Amino acid sequence: MKIISVVGARPNFMKIAPFIKAIEEYNAQIPSVSPVSSVLSVSPVSPVPPVQKIKHILVHTGQHYDDRMSKTFFESLNIPEADINLGVGSGTHAEQVGNTMMAFEKVLEQEKPDWVVVVGDVNATLACSVTAKKLNIKVCHIEAGLRSGDMTMPEEINRLVTDRLSDLLLIPDRLSGENLRKEGVPENKIAFVGNIMIDTLEANRHKAAKLSVKNILRRNSLLPFNFKLSPLQRFALLTMHRPSNVDKKEVLTPLFNFLIDEVAKDMPLIWPIHPRAQKMLQTFGLWGKALQTENLILLNPVGYHDMLRLNMDAKLLLTDSGGLQEESCVLGTPCLTLRWNTERPITLRENGGASVLVGNNVERIRKEYQATLRLTRKPQRPELWDGKTAERCVEAIVDNE
Ligand code: UD1
Repeated sequence: MKIISVVGARPNFMKIAPFIKAIEEYNAQIPSVSPVSSVLSVSPVSPVPPVQKIKHILVHTGQHYDDRMSKTFFESLNIPEADINLGVGSGTHAEQVGNTMMAFEKVLEQEKPDWVVVVGDVNATLACSVTAKKLNIKVCHIEAGLRSGDMTMPEEINRLVTDRLSDLLLIPDRLSGENLRKEGVPENKIAFVGNIMIDTLEANRHKAAKLSVKNILRRNSLLPFNFKLSPLQRFALLTMHRPSNVDKKEVLTPLFNFLIDEVAKDMPLIWPIHPRAQKMLQTFGLWGKALQTENLILLNPVGYHDMLRLNMDAKLLLTDSGGLQEESCVLGTPCLTLRWNTERPITLRENGGASVLVGNNVERIRKEYQATLRLTRKPQRPELWDGKTAERCVEAIVDNE
């Protein structure tokens, strides 16, 4: 069986790492010489076809191309170098999707895989699933069934189209299964496998725990490092990159002022800043204030282990990232989700998780921020977020062959 799996942007890398490892482990169990004779001797009447190794090809669309957004994740998570890089880079959504489709079509015509495996909800996920289906190639979507219900979010469109086209939908939680059933997806296409991001978290948490927060700040600081953070000092951790938060001046300005004038007054605020957010702060004339705020520790985008370590120690997390909501659920970090909706309701406090939706209205954020300061860390483990999801993904694909 031949599988092409696709990555494009940062949140894909931690999902593909355990999947590739699970394929290697699956292949290692299969004898190199086809065991036809032994199979035949067990079942002489209706012979079972010999079990075959999986030939795997990794395609990187190149949507994220900076070393800090891509290469460091390949290195630190032991992801083999992509077999093929489509080099699509930045652009409008139509440009990214269109360029990816044109380049990926050539790869598919050449390689003729049995399956294309896509993960998450980025533009690569959409582009490659559409291209594969048009060539009548089966598509498997890992992290299927998530729905925010917010059609202004590019990722929601990517999720809907990808799931509508997929032949095998691997879901991270039961709520996602309900979403798919409501949309009429037949039961035999859905498999509950758990959350593959948590495989990566479990495989890397010991390594991350050994890192020193101070060294992380020193290594990644955007400015000359002169910050004194005592080992016991509590800090807040921030990530923010969604267009709905950073692309409009009237939204970003009050949000930014709250973070700087209130949160950074209470405790050091650590902000590994996404290229989009940095660009928008500069465009809206807010960058100067960011550089001058003493208690704001601006970092370049940090690697996987550094982020995990910061999340393990943070007093609270403020984020609009989906992956961080899931990680803070398992680590128990009290989390303010800077969004009005989430496709990951299982991470919310009302469902046993660690996060609360606060949107981008400062009054609401302030109220929840004050309440969250009183909370302590409470790790949770949703069903099948057990570090073994990738094995179940490979099994599901093999079973559907
Ligand atoms: C993408 C994903 C989003 C994910 C996020 C994580 C889609 C629709 N969105 O959003 O789901 O949460 O990645 O990071 O796929 N840039 C760089 N260097 C890079 C990559 C991007 O400087 O390596 C800059 C470019 O100027 C680009 C901007 O960042 O215009 C935004 O990048 P883009 O790929 O458009 O989407 P993200 O906002 O990163």
